Amino acid sequence: MNDQFPMEPELAELLELAREAARNSYSPYSGFRVGAALKLASGEIVTGTNVENASYGLTICAERAALVRAVAEFGPEIRVAAVAVANLNGAASPPCGACRQVLAEFILPDAPVAFPAADGVQTMLFSALLPLAFGLRK
Ligand code: THU
Repeated sequence: MNDQFPMEPELAELLELAREAARNSYSPYSGFRVGAALKLASGEIVTGTNVENASYGLTICAERAALVRAVAEFGPEIRVAAVAVANLNGAASPPCGACRQVLAEFILPDAPVAFPAADGVQTMLFSALLPLAFGLRK
C-alpha cells in the first residue's frame, strides 16, 4: 500500500478475489501463479488467472484472461473501474506491458490498479501505469 491511494475496502476485497483466482492458475512451466480481479463500472466483479502453454508464447496472463471473460459475460460496452492483481509467489508483479495495452481498450483512465510491488501492494492510476496508450482513431 502507499500513501497516495489509501487502501479502500473495495480494493482490499478485489485483492482477495485476485488471490483466490490465482489458486486456479495453470502455470506448470513458470510456477508463477497469478490472479486478477476487475471491478466493472456496473459493479460486477470478474476474475481471471494465467493459463500457460507448452508453446510458451501462447500463455495468457491473468489480467487478459479476466478482461476477455468480462467482455464475454457482460458485453463490449463494459468499463473497468478498478483492477487488482495478486500472485502466490510473494513476488512483485505489476501488469505486463501487453496487458496494460489490452486493458486500455476498456478501462477508465482514473481506475486504480493495485498490484504486488517490492515493498507490498502498490496502487496506481491506470493513466500513470500506461501513459500514451496506443489508440486507433479513424
Ligand atoms: N503473468 C501474468 O499472468 N500477468 C502479468 O502481468 C505478467 C505475467 C504470468 C504469465 C506467465 O504465466 C507467468 O506469469 C510468468 O511470466
